[in-house]
Amino acid sequence: MQLVGGTADLLPDALARIRQDVDTAFDQLLPVPEDTRARLVEAMRYAAIDGGKRVRPLLLTATAAMYGVSRQTAVRTGCAVEAIHVYSLIHDDLPCMDDDALRHGKPTLHKAFDEATAVLAGDSLHALAFEILSMPDLVSDPFVRGELVATLAGASGMGGMAGGQMMDMVADEQDYDLHAITRLQQLKTGALLGAAVEMGAILGRVPPEGRGHLRNYARDIGLAFQIADDLLDREGDEALAGKALRKDDEQGKQTFVTLMGADKARDQAAALVEQAIGHLAPHGSEADLLRALARFIVERDR
Ligand code: IPE
Ligand code: IPE
Ligand code: MG
Ligand code: MG
Ligand code: MG
Repeated sequence: MQLVGGTADLLPDALARIRQDVDTAFDQLLPVPEDTRARLVEAMRYAAIDGGKRVRPLLLTATAAMYGVSRQTAVRTGCAVEAIHVYSLIHDDLPCMDDDALRHGKPTLHKAFDEATAVLAGDSLHALAFEILSMPDLVSDPFVRGELVATLAGASGMGGMAGGQMMDMVADEQDYDLHAITRLQQLKTGALLGAAVEMGAILGRVPPEGRGHLRNYARDIGLAFQIADDLLDREGDEALAGKALRKDDEQGKQTFVTLMGADKARDQAAALVEQAIGHLAPHGSEADLLRALARFIVERDR
């Protein structure tokens, strides 16, 4: 199917639309209570609304759309993944972790509020993610809801994001080789991006044996995504990125960039993107958005 306006506008339009839809959904999910919890919910809203690029919800909705899933269901499910991501950034910025003062071009949550509120806002967004997935009106089939919960839980905890964050926190005392760095990145960043794609396929009732190519796609873009983040840290523009850069070297982080150098890391990221797009070969134009997203992941400036 040829889309009106061709495929050039596909990604910018999709990015704008998902931003809007995710903001609207979080606005509805987070009414401020009229009691002393108000500060907590204000903080959650501060972090969750008008946030980042929304790559994870977009991966999820783009995958789900290939299998005819309703937009509303996919956006809601995307918000669950984004809630985990937003919580991970709140905690990642805390003084006990990366100690950052700027996120999305504004003060980090613990700077705008305080550390205790930031910890609790992260905790509550973590819980919100699973609450969203447990709501019976998300999908009527409880087995689908169960599979969504299990997938997101697996990608968030010790076998996923939090496990990767632990490896990252102790990186300055380790002598990680390329294999260890790959594992760290796959857990820290790849797992949640992979969960987004997987959950889109789960909503689309794609059986596990039919998801192999999507998992391969997600694995490759996951790795490319963190390489791009590490390259941005070394070479990016802080005003565009909306966060402090040149921190990885300063904090003794080991990344693909520190291990291979920027040029080789860039080549590696580009190769991973081409490989990721190759995995989409069984699909026609319905996968064009996933192809465009793969390119965006390494070409982005924020
Ligand atoms: C930044 O993720 C942290 C990593 C996992 C590399 P994003 O680049 O997706 O963050 P936002 O949400 O768009 O700011
Ligand atoms: C954070 O990685 C990954 C998370 C799981 C939050 P970074 O520490 O490199 O992310 P930025 O650069 O602060 O966004
Ligand atoms: Mg970090
Ligand atoms: Mg950080
Ligand atoms: Mg970084």
